[in-house]
Amino acid sequence: MTALPTDNPDVVAYRVENRIAWVKFNRPDKRNAQSPNLNRRMAEILDELEHRDDVGVLVLTGEGQAWSAGMDLKEYFRESAGKGLEGTRRAQRQAYRWWEQLRFYQKPTIAMVNGWCFGGAYGPLYACDIAVAADEAQFGLSEINWGILPGGGATKVATNSMPFRKAMYHAMMGENLTGQQAAAQGLVTESVPLAQLEARVTEIANVLLKKNPTALKATKDAVRRVMEMTYDNAEDYLIRAQEAADSFDKEGRMEGMKQFLDDKTYKPGLGAYDKDRAKS
Ligand code: ACO
Repeated sequence: MTALPTDNPDVVAYRVENRIAWVKFNRPDKRNAQSPNLNRRMAEILDELEHRDDVGVLVLTGEGQAWSAGMDLKEYFRESAGKGLEGTRRAQRQAYRWWEQLRFYQKPTIAMVNGWCFGGAYGPLYACDIAVAADEAQFGLSEINWGILPGGGATKVATNSMPFRKAMYHAMMGENLTGQQAAAQGLVTESVPLAQLEARVTEIANVLLKKNPTALKATKDAVRRVMEMTYDNAEDYLIRAQEAADSFDKEGRMEGMKQFLDDKTYKPGLGAYDKDRAKS
């Protein structure tokens, strides 16, 4: 059995500030391409942050000019393939595992797409609940440009996010979209000038931090799950998901009702109840 390459923990950087975990792809000299080493490190960091009380929202961004230039063609593809089927499958699993963890992460997540975003980067992009791009960012399914299909979920990300005609053109042509075009086609939530990106993401994170965390987790999972259900199945799932959420935090919604109906201190149509008042 060949040993795994020596881990360099610096390929992912993170800090926690004001209950926001800022996690960065940190291989700027390689445009933050996802190597097996990066994928292993990212999984470790996501594990470490997922249940920390001082983390309310996780932001995934990139150091330098790239968000992530997709999978590392040298380390993820060529070198893994050089180790045979085991090498390929192992590398795939290391990547897919943390993308899956992120899709159903305990905390709300925001992709802050500061620059290049290609191919394999669509996995983590889609995994984040909200995606805010810089207008200057570039999005591409560049697989076709080097002779493969958009795998690793990337085709599914395009078809789940974009209208059929746009997804097909995007996958076949290998042309890039700007942040604004990606927002117009549904690939990201919105796009702002790069100079305003961090401020806008902080603003969204601060709104999320005020919401009931149990309700947020139930909501984000529900949005992903019901997409694949019939109406009747979705209706049933949502009843049961709320009942399951109640078993963790029934007081939250009782307090939400009380502050509106009895205290008249807020209106749910205009903002969130004060979740800290219930605890004080
Ligand atoms: N895999 C491996 N190395 C990469 C990758 C990648 N995906 N992207 C960039 N790099 C490396 C380059 O090889 C180069 O390394 P070197 O300095 O050792 O020569 C370094 O990062 C800088 O890259 P440049 O190409 O010099 O940077 P530039 O800013 O001119 O271009 C761009 C940036 C457009 C992102 C370009 O690097 C590029 O096309 N990268 C590949 C994008 C891509 O197609 N990714 C794969 C998608 S398919 C998939 O993920 C399954």
